[in-house]
Amino acid sequence: MTQIIKARYPSNIALVKYWGKRDNQLPCNTSLSMTLNDSFSEVSLQYSEKHSSLTEFGYYFEGIPKENFRARVLEYVIKQKEFSSLLKNYALRIDSKNNFPHSAGIASSASAFAAIAAVLLKASAISSDTDFTRDASRLARLGSGSACRSFYGPYASWGHLREINNSSDDYAIPVKEIHENFRSMRDAVLIVEDSPKKIPSSVGHAMMKHHPFAAARFQQADKHCIEMLSALKNGDMEAFISITEGEALSLHAMMMTSGDYYLLFKPETVYIMEQIFQFRKDTGLPVCFTLDAGPNVHLLYPESIEEKIIQFLKNNFCDQLKSVIYDHAGQGGSII
Ligand code: PMV
Repeated sequence: MTQIIKARYPSNIALVKYWGKRDNQLPCNTSLSMTLNDSFSEVSLQYSEKHSSLTEFGYYFEGIPKENFRARVLEYVIKQKEFSSLLKNYALRIDSKNNFPHSAGIASSASAFAAIAAVLLKASAISSDTDFTRDASRLARLGSGSACRSFYGPYASWGHLREINNSSDDYAIPVKEIHENFRSMRDAVLIVEDSPKKIPSSVGHAMMKHHPFAAARFQQADKHCIEMLSALKNGDMEAFISITEGEALSLHAMMMTSGDYYLLFKPETVYIMEQIFQFRKDTGLPVCFTLDAGPNVHLLYPESIEEKIIQFLKNNFCDQLKSVIYDHAGQGGSII
């Protein structure tokens, strides 16, 4: 008999960035993200008993076999002891799809690995209901670090810090105290380039191993996490803006100042960031940017000023933008 388990998990955008890892996908610093709502992956796992000792594992993206990702996911499944009896006893087929375009500056590995870990864990039936989310977050981390934060919303942190209760390097936890000001934050993803990533995040993480500024960067990120938690709790928009933009620039500064330096900004990225500084100065409106490891810009602002932001985008960026994806803070994913 074939059984099916489905899950839907969103992507997330880091406000305090994870950049640098050690051992088995453990972070060198604590990170903190906003969970998206509308940009998600849907994954279905079909499994049926098999009668041979051969591994039977299929991976399909939008209905089409995806060989490179199949190899990555199969290696991931083989490595996790939690999934060993599933792989041994069942023929597995994973189908995945995203409801957002590829190469848009929205991390599909975060949403996909969150959903993949969740369906495999559910099928393995080894976690109690109370432990499920935490176990799935830990297992998702082993597939793609940032995926572990997609289990909670609207904000999640990942990484152990004495100052954060119950925090761990192994899995993410929800941010508990969130002021009204930050409950309905929007994220407009301004797409200046929609071609695939030139340099994978894994290369950037590896560069932090011998980076001359690594120690200072990890300290800075940890400090930013503590300050961001307090900003989220107290409704301090000014602190939110300065930490978020400072983090985006620090992330890219790490790329630009590593031994094998590289640059992901495009002229449009710089133009947009400068326009945002100016717009904020002119209007006093609470809007800021963050960047992932790419040239596209995430514009963050409260729902209450959405109309003004849409007008600002229309007035200023017609020539720079390929498209805009409007999303907002969400609650994390689930088995469906
Ligand atoms: O989860 P990874 O290995 O793709 O790394 C994510 C790195 C950043 O997106 C740049 C930062 C973050 O914390 O999500």
